[in-house]
Amino acid sequence: MFYPQEVIDQVIDANNIVDVIGSYVKLQKKGSTYFGLCPFHNEKTPSFSVTDNGAKQMYYCFGCHKGGSVLTFIMKYENASYLEALKMLADRAGIALPKPDISREESARAKRREAILEVNREAAKYFYHLLKSERGERAYKYLKDRGLTDETITGFGLGYSDKYRDDLYRYMKSKNFSDDVLKASGLFSIKETDTHDYFWNRVMFPIMDVRSKVVAFGGRVMGDGEPKYLNSPETECFNKRKTLYGLHVAKRHKGKELILCEGYMDVISLHQAGFTNAVASLGTALTDGHAGILRRYTQNVIISYDSDTAGQDAALRAIPKLRDAGISVKVADLSPHKDPDELIKAEGTEGYKERLKNAMNSVLFEIHCMVPAYDLTDPDESTRFFNEVAKRLSYFTDGMEQDNYVRAVSKEFGIDYTLLKEKTKKLALSNDNIPKYEPVRPLPLKKDVNSKALLTCQKMLLSYLAQDPSLYDKVSQVIDEHDFTLPPCDGIAVMLFEQLRRRKLDPVSIISSFEEPEMQEEAAAVLDLRTDNEIEADEREKLINECVIRIKTNSIDKQMESEQDLSRMVELKRAAEKIQKIDIFGRSI
Ligand code: UTP
Ligand code: MN
Repeated sequence: MFYPQEVIDQVIDANNIVDVIGSYVKLQKKGSTYFGLCPFHNEKTPSFSVTDNGAKQMYYCFGCHKGGSVLTFIMKYENASYLEALKMLADRAGIALPKPDISREESARAKRREAILEVNREAAKYFYHLLKSERGERAYKYLKDRGLTDETITGFGLGYSDKYRDDLYRYMKSKNFSDDVLKASGLFSIKETDTHDYFWNRVMFPIMDVRSKVVAFGGRVMGDGEPKYLNSPETECFNKRKTLYGLHVAKRHKGKELILCEGYMDVISLHQAGFTNAVASLGTALTDGHAGILRRYTQNVIISYDSDTAGQDAALRAIPKLRDAGISVKVADLSPHKDPDELIKAEGTEGYKERLKNAMNSVLFEIHCMVPAYDLTDPDESTRFFNEVAKRLSYFTDGMEQDNYVRAVSKEFGIDYTLLKEKTKKLALSNDNIPKYEPVRPLPLKKDVNSKALLTCQKMLLSYLAQDPSLYDKVSQVIDEHDFTLPPCDGIAVMLFEQLRRRKLDPVSIISSFEEPEMQEEAAAVLDLRTDNEIEADEREKLINECVIRIKTNSIDKQMESEQDLSRMVELKRAAEKIQKIDIFGRSI
């Protein structure tokens, strides 16, 4: 669903960024810029700046490097989608948005989802009411015995489903819900011959989406019994591969990381102990979808899974997914306790804090998990172990950090420091140092390294161009926007090159031209890549030139594939050869 650009411009123009942000954050004018405490990270001195310098309406935090337009501010602060944010700003300025043209089918679907959410909300209220009534006495005692306070019970909306097999169904019918909607909610089995509730005689955990809407339930038996937890089936409102328990609270956390655990009770205990940044993927392994959602809220995740082998294996599977999403990962060791819930009981808040503090970098964690798979007394196996270790250490992109870990690992496993350092450096420099995050225990999956390396090059070149427009003249001798082949670089390149040609650089407009918040974040990340300032000018030029060569070579290869004309093919082949030797900075080689 799109609005015409004029409408979007009109809405943005009608909302002065200082006024809008000033209604959320206390701002003080210093020179031509306003400053306040950043709402996106914890700080005591203001490093959050807002500028409304004519056309340049943007915010930027010098502390956490978040920045953008009035629209992206609302999206982030209110956790709203692009369209929701646009609507809020339009309302604020009293502008009526044109009626969106959604098909009848779509509006029927939206209505149905609303109806299901209404069923869930009513059910959650009912379960809560039962828990607090005489009928829920045993369930209430169960939760209390597990150490939950009344405040926690209410905060998470915990409840009880009664032991009569159609108790909820009868209640819902008394509220005039139709069988059709009740069925779609997944809370009932409705058949002509037999109708009953999905959950009965269980402690109930409503599962909320990020907007705090109840999308599903989990139910636990009190005491022993199988299955221990039962979860709602997937419905039109509930996709378990994308839902994280506790995120509706954790998203408000201002710290720099989120804690990822396995279960309902872990999240609840942690929140009660003050760790309100805990979330869990429920009854399912962490998916790429989960990782992508986490990345919207944080760049740092501490995995706090169960301490048994199953938990360790789950962590090993989650690490590459999180890394691929651009999250840096640590793993907390909870042993000898089983899970965060039990650790908190045994060692309290301070004990858990200590575990978080000592959480291990994920690369090191992987190396540790690798050890039992090798017989280190056997020379061959020991060599293979050495190579694997070096490979993993080569994933560190920061030289200093890498060196620290090489040192630590060589010491811990009695490996010669110089040898390990050399091997790691070599691997890091070689072509395929782009992390191919093979799981440690399961067999490695083959990944398309080339396209990953290419993507990095395309992103890097765009970000250099956005930061230093003076590069444009040199780069554009060889490269134009059509040479960027991989999304989102292809789209960004078209807009960025157009702006550079017209000498009117405006990254914010590029970012806000993407409709989906995920795409906006991705575009922002590309345009805002912190290219290394420490790097020597000469090194930087080499790097940029290398990107130019790679991007152009790929683009020519692509053209060759579709070229039929022989003489044109020869031409392209020559061009490809010439490109290899090019130096856009005209340095003598
Ligand atoms: P655990 O078995 O580790 O349970 O399952 P737990 O979280 O420690 O639960 P308590 O403390 O015994 O109450 C972790 C998560 O896996 C899912 C649930 O989401 C659970 O929180 N699970 C577990 C199921 O979906 N079904 C099950 O039968 C068991
Ligand atoms: Mn537990």
